[in-house]
Amino acid sequence: MCGIVGYIGPKSVVPILLDGLKKLEYRGYDSAGVAVIEKNKILVVKSVGKIAKLEDKIAAYTPEGSVGIGHTRWATHGRPSDVNSHPHMDCTGKFAVVHNGIIENYIEIREWLESEGHRFVSETDTEVIPHLIEHLFEDSIEQAVRDAIKKLEGSYAMAVLSKAEPGKIVAARKDSPLIVGLGEDEYFLASDIPATLSYTRDNYIINDNEIVVITAQGVKVTDAEGNEVNKEIFHVKWDAVAAEKGGYPHFMLKEIYEQPKAIRETFSGRLSADNKQVILNELNMTPEDIRNLKNIFIVACGTAYHAGMVGKYVIEDLARIPVTVDIASEFRYRNPIIGKGDLVIVISQSGETADTLAALRESQKAGARVLAVTNVVSSSVAREADDVIYTWAGPEIAVASTKAYSTQLIAMFLLGIHFAQVREAIGPDYAERLIAGMKELPQQVDEILEEMAGLEGFLKEYAKRQNTFFLGRGLDYAVAMEGCLKLKEISYMHAEAYAAGELKHGTLALIEDGVPVVALATQMDLYDKMVSNIKEVKARDAQVIGVTYKGNTELKKVVDHVMYIPETDRVLAPVLTVVPLQLLAYHIAVARGCDVDKPRNLAKSVTVE
Ligand code: M6R
Repeated sequence: MCGIVGYIGPKSVVPILLDGLKKLEYRGYDSAGVAVIEKNKILVVKSVGKIAKLEDKIAAYTPEGSVGIGHTRWATHGRPSDVNSHPHMDCTGKFAVVHNGIIENYIEIREWLESEGHRFVSETDTEVIPHLIEHLFEDSIEQAVRDAIKKLEGSYAMAVLSKAEPGKIVAARKDSPLIVGLGEDEYFLASDIPATLSYTRDNYIINDNEIVVITAQGVKVTDAEGNEVNKEIFHVKWDAVAAEKGGYPHFMLKEIYEQPKAIRETFSGRLSADNKQVILNELNMTPEDIRNLKNIFIVACGTAYHAGMVGKYVIEDLARIPVTVDIASEFRYRNPIIGKGDLVIVISQSGETADTLAALRESQKAGARVLAVTNVVSSSVAREADDVIYTWAGPEIAVASTKAYSTQLIAMFLLGIHFAQVREAIGPDYAERLIAGMKELPQQVDEILEEMAGLEGFLKEYAKRQNTFFLGRGLDYAVAMEGCLKLKEISYMHAEAYAAGELKHGTLALIEDGVPVVALATQMDLYDKMVSNIKEVKARDAQVIGVTYKGNTELKKVVDHVMYIPETDRVLAPVLTVVPLQLLAYHIAVARGCDVDKPRNLAKSVTVE
């Protein structure tokens, strides 16, 4: 995700901006840039690629100013390029803006501003902001920013520099992080604390809808109505490495806690305002293409494959199109029967997984259409596929995938509902219920995260075991596969996931006194059958942790411990069910002293066969 920085003070600004940007590199980026007030002008230098490339470019200018803003961009709207990098300017060169977030109504604003004579140079959503400010500016940059954000929908942390008021930076926040570092006669802006930690430990944490004005004399924070807000100083006690993780001990835990925001980003802008339709404007498929689909193949590896398993259940159930789900390394060599009229959906967080990319190419050679679901803009699968749905989860740093998985599930729901609506396979009432349910998921994940705090104590005992089993039926089986992979990869504990009905065809022989079994029971149409399977393992003295909905008072009578999730439609349940399993894997791995973020033998992006 993008990172923003800013500085006003007595020192030369560029080294401070570059230092701050380097501290935000962990967020992931593909280009970087700075804007500096230099001799009553705004000097902008930006470059695609690493910060070192930006440094090389800046060396040609040797700017001396002491007021400036900087940015690392993680491409969303528009590929990584010099011109799409931030800062962006208005037509007159009077305003420079850096932005983190997504402006959802940018097309509408851009068309309006173009009709008013504004000239745009980039493909980004961000560029509407400086033009909007230019359009609205009378004599106060603060007022122009205040007026501009009233017209913006979406998320933003932004910083604005103006040569009309060269000793001032105006910043604003909604749904994207922003802090102000308080130094001695110097002030900093940043997306995250690591960027300012070498200069100050005192910060203001800016809240949604607050506007900040920074000058060399001090910092003023106001709310949306313009009332001054008395901010409390947040004093940072962590060291620099911990600060990059936002105070979390591991990136994995941070990313688990980022899921509510990531899920919201994935569906936002893709649901109609009246909650009745899924709108996937990025798909080049016409309604006729969708109606004529013969078969769908979902192809992926690891966690993304498990998201594909959920995708199969959801698309078949809602849209009634036959779906085959394949592991990419098998699919590419199994001579699959595919061709024109078939759709291959490849799912890949990184968009660079070698087997998934090869499967994509094989499918295109065979004449199938390929749709990529990926997190990384301009990744190889995104570039080569016929259609792309980005998951907007933000950079995932821990090797174990968490927020990428939950956002891939959202992408599967969006596709399932969209295909079903186009093919009239579900009625409007059910579609509306699913959409409303999807919108509740971020809040429900938050609830689970709050309620699961303190889980580590109870899990310590389980961390000593050698084997664990995960059981589920229907969609719960798909989630059991993912929970099991999480536990294995980060805790090195042997685990197996089974379709609960299959257990007695062999694996039941492994169940003995004290063996932990995680039993998922969220698919209520299969609930009684699942309880029978739980009783089978209990009869062999397994120690069972159940997962079910709050309000189910029955399950606790047949298991040893229950983890509860909020009520949702059975189709949407996997997004909630996986959260306790992620936390279970995490706490067991920590208790076993494992390197959670970098498990042995594994890499984040598997670009070899
Ligand atoms: O980048 P991709 O989604 O294509 O990666 C696929 C797998 O390597 C990945 O999901 C892996 O299984 C996870 N790290 C597991 O947590």
